Amino acid sequence: MSEVVLPLNAPVSANPSNGNSSAASILVIDDEAGIRESLEVLLSLEGYTVAMAAEGAEGLRMIEVDNFDLVLLDLALPGQSGLELLPRIKERQPELPVIMITAYGTVDNVVEAVRAGAENFVQKPWDNEKLLADIRSATARHKAEEENLQLKRTLKQRYNFSNIVGKSESMLRVFDLIAQVAPSRSTVLIQGESGTGKELIAKAIHANSPRRDKSFVPINTGAMPSELLESTLFGHVKGAFTSAIASKKGLFEVANGGTLFLDEIATMGLDTQAKILRVLQDRRFMHLGGVQEIQVDVRIIAATNVDLRQAVREGKFREDLFYRLNVITVDLPPLRARREDIPLLAQHFLNFYATENGLPPRKLSADALRALVDYDWPGNVRELENSIERGVVLSSSPIIGSDLLPGHITGRSFQDALLDHNPNASLFDILEVIERRIIIEKLERCNWNQTEAAEQFRIPLSTLNQKIKRLNIEIRKKGRE
Ligand SMILES: Nc1ncnc2c1ncn2[C@@H]1O[C@H](COP(=O)(O)OP(=O)(O)OP(=O)(O)O)[C@@H](O)[C@H]1O
Ligand SMILES: [Mg+2]
Repeated sequence: MSEVVLPLNAPVSANPSNGNSSAASILVIDDEAGIRESLEVLLSLEGYTVAMAAEGAEGLRMIEVDNFDLVLLDLALPGQSGLELLPRIKERQPELPVIMITAYGTVDNVVEAVRAGAENFVQKPWDNEKLLADIRSATARHKAEEENLQLKRTLKQRYNFSNIVGKSESMLRVFDLIAQVAPSRSTVLIQGESGTGKELIAKAIHANSPRRDKSFVPINTGAMPSELLESTLFGHVKGAFTSAIASKKGLFEVANGGTLFLDEIATMGLDTQAKILRVLQDRRFMHLGGVQEIQVDVRIIAATNVDLRQAVREGKFREDLFYRLNVITVDLPPLRARREDIPLLAQHFLNFYATENGLPPRKLSADALRALVDYDWPGNVRELENSIERGVVLSSSPIIGSDLLPGHITGRSFQDALLDHNPNASLFDILEVIERRIIIEKLERCNWNQTEAAEQFRIPLSTLNQKIKRLNIEIRKKGRE
């Protein structure tokens, strides 16, 4: 299938030669001395450290010994061409961004180079400002990835929080706080809007506590009628109520020695609140219908996405329970209040979902990243995660453009994106992109069951299969639920 080529050279927000660029080092691989010289002048003036190689083998050697932040690679090198060299660079350093330079920038070359992992493509004679903007964007992204790795390493060393991403002041404070509280048995209350990572933090506290080898038992207290909730939490003896045909352990016992995570605590009924308060006070309880007291050693972590103080004022939440729970409070800020975490989180989810779907590494185009950073994220990290997963699944190239993000995030419709991105694409090409996307969406909804998708489309399965082949759609199993 011929592809509609999406813009690889999206402009970057104005950020003249300063700050970041001074630290970055760039390797230029080009056989023409004139080109090397003019790039050297241009890049040095911008504060970059520049190294030169006149041919591929020399370039590869330099990449093996030095740490570069970016490579500018000529496509038409004598001997080993730039396109042949590119995979060998990527083999050595998969994360190193490579921008191709060519005089013959045909669409085929662009597609091939990008498939092979090139960051971007620049045609000779280039426009200095645009080239510098591309370089800034690529080095910034590379830096974010490196930081991500670095951060994961240190967090892992310090606290074993390797799956929690964040570098904002507010998240670093959260990391410190959870590291402090993890070793004790104190009750922790985690407050934050929906999707801010409350359960993830609760698990991290458990995983870093001396209880880590015992169970972490989550229960969504808001999703159950009180009777069921009570029998789930406290267990019951045989005959305690009509359907209690056998006795059953409660979650307080299941979590003995470990951690019980009471999620969405604000919606719990007042009666159940009173019973929980009693367990919190003396770590004892009775099975429903039972007479024997049971002693447990359970750490309680509670979470809420509403303001519990307000619920207390409104008489919906017991004040005494609030004070019992509120020994240590972790306030998780909404994502829009820590936008500097967005690029790190986006890269984290890109890596996760590419690996999970067995795909090569994926990156976001500069305009896609900008749209993500600018958006307000009412659904917080979960919404970001879902948007990235969708982008990874829908994309057929290693760079995910803003057209693959939901329209309410970019503020543009899919049609707008298609028409703007490549004004010269033929109607046939555009329709293929749309068809491909609709089929993938449908397969996603049918959990990749082709028979079901064909039935819903009311086409024979064989027709769907032909389309899947022609449109180069990889059949995948659904990842995490
Ligand atoms: N800082 C983070 N780093 C990496 N992943 C994160 C981070 N914060 C949240 N996530 C991911 O976002 C998703 C939502 O997180 P989680 O379920 O913990 O949120 P929540 O606050 O409990 O949401 P809700 O209120 O809707 O239950 C999860 O897949 C989680 O792994
Ligand atoms: Mg949750």
